[in-house]
Amino acid sequence: MLTVNGSFPGPEIRVHKGDTAFVNVHNHGQYGVTIHWHGVREPRNPWSDGPENITQCPIPPGTSFLQEINFMTEEGTLWWHAHSDWTRATVHGAIIILPAIGTYYPYPCPHAEDTVVLASWFKGDVMAIIQEALATGGDPNSSDAFTINGQPGDLYNCSRNSTYRLMVDYGKTYVLRIVNAVMNEEMFFGIANHTLTVVGMDAAYLKPIKTSYVMITPGQTMDVLVTADQELSHYYMAGSPFADTMASFDNTTTTAILQYRGNYTPPSLPFFPTLPAYNDKYAAMNFSVRLRSLASRAHPVNVPKKIDKRIFITVSVNQIYCPNASCAGPNGNRLAASLNNISFQTPKIDILEAYYWSLPGVYNATFPDRPPYFFNFTGDVSNISLYPCLDTAVKVIDYGATVEIIFQGTNLGNPENHPMHQHGYSFYVVGMGWGNFNNETDPKTYNLVDPPQVNTFGVPKNGWLTIRFIADNPGVWFQHCHLERHTTWGMDTVLIVKNGHTAATSMRPPPPYMPLCH
Ligand code: C2O
Ligand code: CU
Repeated sequence: MLTVNGSFPGPEIRVHKGDTAFVNVHNHGQYGVTIHWHGVREPRNPWSDGPENITQCPIPPGTSFLQEINFMTEEGTLWWHAHSDWTRATVHGAIIILPAIGTYYPYPCPHAEDTVVLASWFKGDVMAIIQEALATGGDPNSSDAFTINGQPGDLYNCSRNSTYRLMVDYGKTYVLRIVNAVMNEEMFFGIANHTLTVVGMDAAYLKPIKTSYVMITPGQTMDVLVTADQELSHYYMAGSPFADTMASFDNTTTTAILQYRGNYTPPSLPFFPTLPAYNDKYAAMNFSVRLRSLASRAHPVNVPKKIDKRIFITVSVNQIYCPNASCAGPNGNRLAASLNNISFQTPKIDILEAYYWSLPGVYNATFPDRPPYFFNFTGDVSNISLYPCLDTAVKVIDYGATVEIIFQGTNLGNPENHPMHQHGYSFYVVGMGWGNFNNETDPKTYNLVDPPQVNTFGVPKNGWLTIRFIADNPGVWFQHCHLERHTTWGMDTVLIVKNGHTAATSMRPPPPYMPLCH
């Protein structure tokens, strides 16, 4: 497996808000790779953002690339990961952004903190798994286990002695920084007998939520307070999938142990938490609708009220026709995925370079503001074509525009929850619901007071999600579902935000060295 500095998960990056970090990535692997700083805004600097063939070409084996990461607006937990093919399965780590020097958490100072990285474990080379799936057109193999900090835990027969343990002192409060680095499943997570208090998400603060479980999608991060206020003993923390889908998924449970220090005789088996069933979409929704920004004087909300650019995007799993039913997907076709019925084709030269140097023929600025036609998206779709267009279609947006995007899940192919992720921006989640978006009634339900500000959020299965942000970060920014197989299949697009009128509102020039495209 490909790793960073020989560890899985990879090394943690710790900074203070306001810091700039430089990371020199040396590729000692066998194939090209790129690294992305997930959830970092990278003001005016898409050159260091990392998605392969979107903002750079891969770093060739045996060479290095210096990336600059500016932590200007985020505070809390984020993560970094590889952004080439499926390498992010093993190439990822947490980023911890402490409050700026002289400022403090908006919650009581915890006694200590720990990081919980949830990830996928494949028996086999992940690159071979996705290559094989692409060769046949079928579903890639599901993972064989989930891990917490690199260990699957006691419910698998391979890691009993090395299950991750968090030692705690009775009466103390800890902050857990949870990262979902899983490839293809949203996760439920909880700790037996302990209440979780969610205080932050995607490096922005929330009004505290007390809960027995969280639902966290791939790409999301959460800061959770846990007080060690139970009987001296040992307790499982567990992660199990939320996968309300007919597609195959990994239906196993990863565990770690929260263990109290002291003299006591614990029961032979740690207590086990009760988590929602894998298909409990109500448990997932009930958690998601509780998320609200802190919206304090120190951490204000700035959600646009007047919208300049409104975009409606359908999110679908599709098929590409294979003659003589020669592929391994449904109906002998090839699996695909789309936004507004366009299955994104990754170009050979990165879009940022093509945009900056006006190279023709790399992308088309044709991503539409609405799907090609309206149908009962979440109802009976049996008469609707499953075949998308194939295109490298991007959306160009004026600097400073207030943008609203309504994501509409569809019942085509395999409907499920889609965690949509935006590079270059955090956005406000102002509304969500089941079924088809209703232009009249649904906007009345929007939260424009204290919506959560995140970089990734699930579009409910056969439902909709409305997000808003101000397009004040010029650059080339990938937008995609964070379920890795959907990204691979084309559930992606790119937002190009144009320059403003001043140097301070324009993209920075490229660094002296960018990996070359071949
Ligand atoms: Cu977590 Cu395009 O990334
Ligand atoms: Cu998806």
